[in-house]
Amino acid sequence: MIQLQDKSFEVFIKEAEILKEVSSLAEMINKEYQGKEVIFIAILNGAFMFSSDLIKCITLPCEISFVKVSSYKGTTSKGRVDELIGLSTKIENKHVIILEDIVDTGITIDKIKTLLHIENPASVKICTLLFKPDAFLGKVEPEFVGFSIPNKFVVGYGLDYNEKGRNIKEIYQLKEE
Ligand code: IMP
Ligand code: MG
Repeated sequence: MIQLQDKSFEVFIKEAEILKEVSSLAEMINKEYQGKEVIFIAILNGAFMFSSDLIKCITLPCEISFVKVSSYKGTTSKGRVDELIGLSTKIENKHVIILEDIVDTGITIDKIKTLLHIENPASVKICTLLFKPDAFLGKVEPEFVGFSIPNKFVVGYGLDYNEKGRNIKEIYQLKEE
């Protein structure tokens, strides 16, 4: 068990299990995009650890760009997202894969997709390590999902609780009081 500020968390997905799933996601991408070039767009801050482990297993010609959008404060969504900051790569006619740590309501990813489509990419798909189907409000589910998880708050492996816990190797789940 770990304590971050006022909340207790218990281990949920172990490091080895995460890394195994990350490499199998990369294998799926390698297969599906064979003969193509891919531009990965990683969403900061949460996806930094996932992106770096995943891209090490990618064998396709690729580029990676890190962008930022506004995020959560505390354990519930504000339900709004700001502009996309930091997209330096030209994505016109390119195959784009968005890398996310977690898709919860799907509002963030929806907004990002809309913003990216303005640049006329050849295709845009989502690769997320975690997906909460019970919280999801969007129409199109992410194409590549590592783990579908219950609608409970998680931290670690890049994910934070009020900016704490991103450094933890495992994924922890909020402990019920
Ligand atoms: P959405 O817009 O509701 O899909 O939320 C997406 C963003 O909210 C993610 O990129 C995370 O930064 C954050 N988020 C959602 N659920 C969690 C969680 O359980 N732990 C930590 N961050 C979360
Ligand atoms: Mg995020």
